[in-house]
Amino acid sequence: MQAVANAIADRISLISVSSTMKVAAEAERLRAEGADIVDFGAGEPDFPTPDNIKQAAVRALDENFTKYTAVSGTADLKKAVCEYHARHFGTDYKPAECLITVGGKHIIFNAMQALVNPGDEVVIPVPYWVTYKDVVNYAGGKCVFVDTDETNGFAVTAAMIEPHLTARTKMVIINSPSNPSGALVNRAEFEKIFRMTRDRGIYLMTDECYCFFLYDSEPFSIASLPGATETVLVAGSLSKTYAMTGWRIGFGLMPAPIIGAMTKLQSHSTSNPTSIAQKAAAEALRGPQESVKVMLAEYRRRRDFIVGRLRAIPGVTCAEPRGAFYAYPNLGVVLGKSSGIQNTLQLAERLLAEAGVALVPGEAFGTDRHVRISYATSMKELERGLDRVHQFVVKHS
Ligand SMILES: Cc1ncc(COP(=O)(O)O)c(C=O)c1O
Repeated sequence: MQAVANAIADRISLISVSSTMKVAAEAERLRAEGADIVDFGAGEPDFPTPDNIKQAAVRALDENFTKYTAVSGTADLKKAVCEYHARHFGTDYKPAECLITVGGKHIIFNAMQALVNPGDEVVIPVPYWVTYKDVVNYAGGKCVFVDTDETNGFAVTAAMIEPHLTARTKMVIINSPSNPSGALVNRAEFEKIFRMTRDRGIYLMTDECYCFFLYDSEPFSIASLPGATETVLVAGSLSKTYAMTGWRIGFGLMPAPIIGAMTKLQSHSTSNPTSIAQKAAAEALRGPQESVKVMLAEYRRRRDFIVGRLRAIPGVTCAEPRGAFYAYPNLGVVLGKSSGIQNTLQLAERLLAEAGVALVPGEAFGTDRHVRISYATSMKELERGLDRVHQFVVKHS
């Protein structure tokens, strides 16, 4: 048989394999060979899904809730999402403004496909969550990156974004608290960014994936401002809040015409998210919320530990994460001629091979001297891993 010429469609070259996944795959390979790896790469809670949520899924199975649901999600779950957002943030979304998706990533993908035309610009603060760049590129859009400053804790302000807005700007994406830095957008600045985008007819996507994991402030949604629902696009996920990464439930709260466009798209791709997972998600949103507080308290303890340990390494700086469960230290001190390590990709490879620590290189998030350490892992692993990182940095700097 003759090989098919140019088998892979051109559009696939617009995206790259997520570097977070690359590190995980290499760590997995080494572990399978028997290596002792400390894994700081995983972007998921190390807690189990709470019991009440699991039981709801078991009930769904027993009741044979195992068939197709509406493409956009069950009426009950959409209602639960709207009520939950109203309860926490005082918004007033209707089920017609809600779409249930296969994880939070899926709502962001759908929104880009539904809204971004070739050449449209999407403004993304740096460091950014890897997927934004790829989903914008895949839609034919152009990413416009906005630098932030580590010495200000990677804070994003309206003044930083403003010079990047043009007649082609379709959307600004804000992720607060941020993956990978844990930075928060100050509430007054967020409001300024909202007004600035609204006045220019630009969408403001707020990725609320980590919005309940905050260490020194209360959860807040920019969608709660009066008049926000016309231009604000809420991307939500149950993955981290309820330790449900494998269940794959996310949602969008957006103007009804956009929900309609995304539903049309979803009807030809995944159709409905898994029926049983939708039942579990409704329980997560309506049931007891204690588990979220327990996880937050533990993340705070780990955050304090890890930041202290990182700052104790000579030459290493680390902005204090104010939310989420990642630290984003600057390990630039080991880059250069003497170590032979030229960039953070090589740094992550060497750390994995020589010290048995898996973490994600800053290049994945748009900066060239940092690495992302997930502290969604036990204190024991954090201690072991940080000892290794410390020794590695001292040896190579
Ligand atoms: C910033 C951010 N947004 C959205 C998501 C989507 O999560 P999921 O698709 O697992 O619900 C993630 C996952 O890592 C994330 O870090």
